[in-house]
Amino acid sequence: MEPTPAVQTFKLTRLYGDMVALNDLSLTVNRGDLFGFIGSNGAGKTTTLRILATFLAPSAGTAAVAGHDVVKDADAVRHVIGYMPDFFGVYKDMEVTEYLDFFGACYKIPSAQREKVVSDVLELVGLTEKKGALIGALSRGMQQRLGLARVLIHDPQVLLLDEPASGLDPRARIEVMAILQELQRLGKTIIISSHILSELETLCNRVAIIEKGKLIYAGPVQGVRDQMATGRVIWVKVASDPAQAVELLKGRPEITEVVPTDRQLKVTLASLDTDHSIVAETLVKGGARLVGLREDEMGLEEVFLRVTKGETQ
Ligand SMILES: Nc1ncnc2c1ncn2[C@@H]1O[C@H](COP(=O)(O)OP(=O)(O)OP(=O)(O)O)[C@@H](O)[C@H]1O
Ligand SMILES: [Mg+2]
Repeated sequence: MEPTPAVQTFKLTRLYGDMVALNDLSLTVNRGDLFGFIGSNGAGKTTTLRILATFLAPSAGTAAVAGHDVVKDADAVRHVIGYMPDFFGVYKDMEVTEYLDFFGACYKIPSAQREKVVSDVLELVGLTEKKGALIGALSRGMQQRLGLARVLIHDPQVLLLDEPASGLDPRARIEVMAILQELQRLGKTIIISSHILSELETLCNRVAIIEKGKLIYAGPVQGVRDQMATGRVIWVKVASDPAQAVELLKGRPEITEVVPTDRQLKVTLASLDTDHSIVAETLVKGGARLVGLREDEMGLEEVFLRVTKGETQ
């Protein structure tokens, strides 16, 4: 028998008035995945996570977490998830331990066990030394880690984290990412949203990219380039008139774009399958003096930006 996926949505749709924020989103996140949920501003990430966290009802379609329907079995879902919203208030005048103990009580963890649970989660997020500190005196990165500690209190199987690294400096980001990897090793299923694909490139084993509420890619990060790269980029250097070279190259249907830069031409081939020798051939036959030609693998972020360009709402 196939194991139950940790999270599954089927044609999930959400309207705000007549605005379609989520459009027929079907997604599967397997147990143990560290799953990146990528989209630019307004793509529908928060809407999806709020539905999975049972805070928002879908307009159509279904979603289940650990086999529990988010509408019909909302209580069961709340027990198995830890949801960290994109903005969460912190209780600045509370001490770190007091705060976590409070949430432990909310989850009805018996007081005799709470001390150990709190100290375990603090250890996990690297805040043991700050247990007596006032929350207001923690740095932004530490507050973010405290937010993670809070959603871990009831030992949930599935973590739903809405842009947990936003607003953090590079070092604090790396710390958060390291904690997520540790949580994955502990067997948690994690969905993390972000608007930066390359940030999740090495972290996540699978990603989904959404735009305007629609799924445009789901699969391994490595597959993004193959499936979505819109072409190959070749850098060309000529010793003759660059304008002439541009004209020659623009005459080829295999070439979608020629952009002269300072000293080189940036040439984009329409297809990944096009042999780049056509660039050299066209230039030489046309009488240009070709002095250099270098292929550039399109960066992951560039692929993402091209696929989603200007598509935000
Ligand atoms: N409460 C609301 N009322 C009306 N429209 C909303 C509401 N919440 C979200 N939207 C709209 O739904 C769309 C999706 O928003 P959502 O917050 O899910 O996107 P997001 O991917 O999380 O974006 P961001 O990266 O900015 O956090 C946007 O167009 C947004 O304006
Ligand atoms: Mg959001």
